[in-house]
Amino acid sequence: MKKRLLSGMRPTGALHLGNYVGALKNWVKLQEEYECYYTVVDWHALMSEYKNPSAVREAIPEVVADWLACGIDPKKSVVFKQSDVKEHLELAMIFGNLVSLGRLYRCPTYKEQLRELRGKDITNYSFLGYPVLQAADILIYRAAVVPVGEDQLPHIELTREIARDFNSTYKEVFPEPDAILTPVPRLPGLDGRKMSKSYGNAIFLGDTEEEIKSKVMVALTDTKRARKSDPGHPDECNLFPYYLAFFTERSAELQRECVSAKIGCVDCKKKLAGLLSEFLSPIREKRQQVLKEPAYIDEILGEGAVKARKTASETMRLVRKAMGLI
Ligand code: TRP
Ligand code: SF4
Repeated sequence: MKKRLLSGMRPTGALHLGNYVGALKNWVKLQEEYECYYTVVDWHALMSEYKNPSAVREAIPEVVADWLACGIDPKKSVVFKQSDVKEHLELAMIFGNLVSLGRLYRCPTYKEQLRELRGKDITNYSFLGYPVLQAADILIYRAAVVPVGEDQLPHIELTREIARDFNSTYKEVFPEPDAILTPVPRLPGLDGRKMSKSYGNAIFLGDTEEEIKSKVMVALTDTKRARKSDPGHPDECNLFPYYLAFFTERSAELQRECVSAKIGCVDCKKKLAGLLSEFLSPIREKRQQVLKEPAYIDEILGEGAVKARKTASETMRLVRKAMGLI
């Protein structure tokens, strides 16, 4: 029997290459080895976007289209929307009894988000409880593994603590899930900061050839390299990681050409833009095709919700039994 896996993404807009390299590419591969549950966590998005809920609703099909275009297969994996499975909230409520406020205030992700999302008022009750709902997302399926980025490790640690605490307070119901970290290094944005929609430094999976080209051409490269005749430093260049992540077989040669000043940044950028366009072209087409058929997306999410609810309600039955509520 395959081990069960769960992961989720917040619907905050179309996905970019950073999301692909950091998560989606790995999700696609993991479908072969695990029984995968992939969820669009709209309630989590709502915790920071509650003043603009329609943005959350509109982002859901975008995210699903990006997933399908990259190779998430609803025949292999359960693809669903968090808010279609109310058991997540029911379990989160029960977990809430086991987690102290101090534990949540100390969570490094909480402090970081307060700093990062300064424009938004997220000093509310639900945002503090964000990781408790995330623990419920995972444990409601009794998932054994969770592929996440490094930044999410504190949440997986809390999930393990909650599982342990529940099991020892009541009866053994939950496994302690392990994180699976993505093997690929983080892809920088075009300006060197973390790739993010809100920084305007991202290449989106749906970008056209022209958009890709104009973004790559203005990207920040090796700042020490003033002239083409100066040797370049690929490890200090924001674009070299793109070669490593997407065109690994070309990266060694490019590295040699760069350090020996055989290739200039303009040519290197043109080449990269061309390669990326080629890589993204089938993904862009598939996502457009999916987005044209909202009924197809609804159907996938509907079928996913039925499967997810089945597992989730089994878990809730075990939970009630373990607690002596039934
Ligand atoms: N917090 C995760 C993120 O921002 C999203 C998320 C919500 C998640 N629930 C999850 C990830 C459960 C993995 C498992 O990336
Ligand atoms: Fe970066 Fe390419 Fe310029 Fe080298 S040649 S510094 S890898 S853009």
